[in-house]
Amino acid sequence: MSDLDYNELTIEHFENPRNVGVVKDGNGYGKIGEQGCGDICEITVRIKDSIIEDIKFRVYGCAGAIATSSVVTEITMGKNIEFALDLTDDDVVDYLGGLPEGKKHCSLLAIKALHQAIYDHLLNKGLESVGTVNTKDQFNQLAEQTLQEIMQRAKQN
Ligand code: FES
Repeated sequence: MSDLDYNELTIEHFENPRNVGVVKDGNGYGKIGEQGCGDICEITVRIKDSIIEDIKFRVYGCAGAIATSSVVTEITMGKNIEFALDLTDDDVVDYLGGLPEGKKHCSLLAIKALHQAIYDHLLNKGLESVGTVNTKDQFNQLAEQTLQEIMQRAKQN
């Protein structure tokens, strides 16, 4: 099977991807890049009472990355976050009925971005509940500052 031997369902998701874009009033954000090929997947979610009310993606990448991102949004729309956090890239590949061998890693992008978006939401909610931040902007600022500090420390070590 060559890299271009996508099955019918994968091609269908590639040609008609579901849930493309950015969720309005989203409260969770994830963005993951694949170092090997340079592809990037971004996922936004709106979560209420642990349910994913809305989810959208944008991807810069191959047909496999587009199809698997589309599937991830389709599977998790309306589901609770425990279900979404249990979801693996193998589940996505199985849902599609397989991917060409060299493209199996593509499904990791959306899964990782989804999990990051959920953790982003949970962290923001947790920090708000203890009064560390009061707004999403404050949370984003704190997250950015923390990231800079981590990178700074990593450079020193
Ligand atoms: S080849 Fe990069 S994600 Fe598909």
